[in-house]
Amino acid sequence: MEIKTIGVVGAGTMGQGIAQVAIQNGFRVILRDLEDRLLQHARARIEKGLDRLVESGKISEGQKAEMMKMLITTTGMPDMKNADFVVEAATEEYAVKKAIFQELEKICRPNTILATNTSSISITKIGATTKRPEKVIGMHFMNPVPLLQLVEVIRGVETAAETAAATHDLAKRLGKTTVEAKDFPGFLANWPTGSSCP
Ligand SMILES: NC(=O)c1ccc[n+]([C@@H]2O[C@H](COP(=O)([O-])OP(=O)(O)OC[C@H]3O[C@@H](n4cnc5c(N)ncnc54)[C@H](O)[C@@H]3O)[C@@H](O)[C@H]2O)c1
Repeated sequence: MEIKTIGVVGAGTMGQGIAQVAIQNGFRVILRDLEDRLLQHARARIEKGLDRLVESGKISEGQKAEMMKMLITTTGMPDMKNADFVVEAATEEYAVKKAIFQELEKICRPNTILATNTSSISITKIGATTKRPEKVIGMHFMNPVPLLQLVEVIRGVETAAETAAATHDLAKRLGKTTVEAKDFPGFLANWPTGSSCP
């Protein structure tokens, strides 16, 4: 299935960046957070990010306007039913992610891949909270997402090869370079000093 619409759950630092990069690359985005004020803030930050591209001559005002039309914001998780691929970028707490993945699995089509941007929680553990662990994967963007090229793809024990292939492919369509990283909690304990990761 061709991915045209990306669901992004969590409109904080990372969700904003992922949504911006997605609309820049022609995807429709459904961006979900808990409150309208957070979504308004996110929309303003994304628009500011695109303004920088206009100022540097990389895109026109018209292109920016078209990109902003591709962004839908919502407080309703059920809107994720229209997503072809979901990236969860919510608060880094297992209980929060567990609740989100359990909701997503009920709402999203059975073949929709559910990716998480987690920095430290096991993908296998998140996948095990669902009945589709083969469709659950880590897609670890770096901060700031619009500027940093690397995306780590992290397979859980049950992640299917097709899920990983589709995730690499999507990251490339977002203009990113991918590497595979191992799934073990706290892998950031050895993260190099000065990295943008928490
Ligand atoms: N900030 C970084 O440098 C960085 C880098 C790579 C990965 N990450 C990972 O990305 C994820 C997000 O990090 P962040 O820095 O953007 O966090 P953040 O605190 O800026 O944003 C998290 C957002 O998630 C929202 N949220 C919480 N529960 C939600 C729910 N049920 N549905 C929708 N939204 C919900 C919060 O309201 C908040 O707006 C984390 O897993 C983090 O580990 C962060």
